[in-house]
Amino acid sequence: MTEDMTQYPLRLEGDDAPMIRFQNVTKKYGDLTVLDRLDLDVAAGEMVTIIGPSGSGKTTVLRMLMTLEQIDAGVIYVDGEPLTHMEKGGRLVRGDAQHLRRMRGKIGMCFQHFNLFPHMTALGNCMEGPVQVLGLSKREAEERALELLDMVGMAEKRDEHPSRLSGGQQQRVAIARALAMRPQVMLFDEVTSALDPEVISEVTSVIRALADQHQLTMLMVTHQMGFAKEISDRVVFFYDGSIEEQGTPDKLFDSPDKERTQQFLSAVLEAT
Ligand SMILES: Nc1ncnc2c1ncn2[C@@H]1O[C@H](COP(=O)(O)OP(=O)(O)OP(=O)(O)O)[C@@H](O)[C@H]1O
Ligand SMILES: [Mg+2]
Repeated sequence: MTEDMTQYPLRLEGDDAPMIRFQNVTKKYGDLTVLDRLDLDVAAGEMVTIIGPSGSGKTTVLRMLMTLEQIDAGVIYVDGEPLTHMEKGGRLVRGDAQHLRRMRGKIGMCFQHFNLFPHMTALGNCMEGPVQVLGLSKREAEERALELLDMVGMAEKRDEHPSRLSGGQQQRVAIARALAMRPQVMLFDEVTSALDPEVISEVTSVIRALADQHQLTMLMVTHQMGFAKEISDRVVFFYDGSIEEQGTPDKLFDSPDKERTQQFLSAVLEAT
C-alpha cells in the first residue's frame, strides 16, 4: 500500500523546529516490525540517549538516520529538511542518491567497532573524508585534523596506525574522524562496549566534552546507565520498536512511571 504523503510537511520551519524528527516512522524486516510508527524529536544542541532491551530497535533508529536502508512508512527530517525524502513538484518522494549523499553530510557517526582505515595513520584517517568528500586542501584538512586529534587527546599519536593503538585510543580517533566532517548531528552506538573497563573513561570524557559545548546535536545508544544519567538532557526508553517512556535522566532513572521501564532498570542495575 502506498502511503499518503500529503500528511507530512515539506519542511520544518520556525525557531522551535527540531534538528531531528522521526514522524510516524515504521521499519520492517519481512514480517518483523522493528520500528513501529515512531515519533521522536531531538532539539538542536540536545543530547538524547536511547536505552532499552536488546532487539528493541535502538541501533535501527541510528541506522535509519544514516540512510543505509529505506524506511517503510513515515518521514525522517534533519535540520528542517526531509532526510529520507525530497520535494518534487510540491510533493514528498523518496530521496535519490544525490539527496541522500548531501543530507548524510550533516550526520556523523561512531559505532562499537571503530573501523578506522588500517593502512592510514591517525592523522590520515581524519584527513581522508575532508579531502576526498569535502574537497579541502591537504593543508586545511591537516590543520582541522590536528585540532580534533588534540581535542580527543591523540595529538601525540598522530603518526601511528590503528593496529598500534589501544581500543580506547582507536575510538577517540574515530570520534575525531567523524567530527572532521563537521556534522550537525553525531550518532554514538555503544561506543564503549568493545572497550576494556580501564579505557572507557577516556572515551566517555571526550563525549562529555562534546555534550558540554552544546552546538552538536547528539543521539546516543548506551548500556552504561551511569553515563547516560550523567550526560543526557533526555533519556528515551525503547521497548519493542517504540518509545515506552521518556524524560529527564533524574525522572526516568529515579522514578519511572511505566512498569516495563522499572523492570528493565532493575534488571540492568542488578547485572552490574
Ligand atoms: N538487517 C536485518 N535484517 C533482519 N532483521 C534485522 C536486521 N537488522 C536488525 N534486525 C532486527 O531488528 C530488531 C532490532 O534490532 P536493533 O539492532 O535495532 O536492536 P537493538 O535495540 O540495537 O539491540 P542491541 O541492544 O542488542 O544492540 C532485532 O530483532 C533484529 O534482529
Ligand atoms: Mg544495538
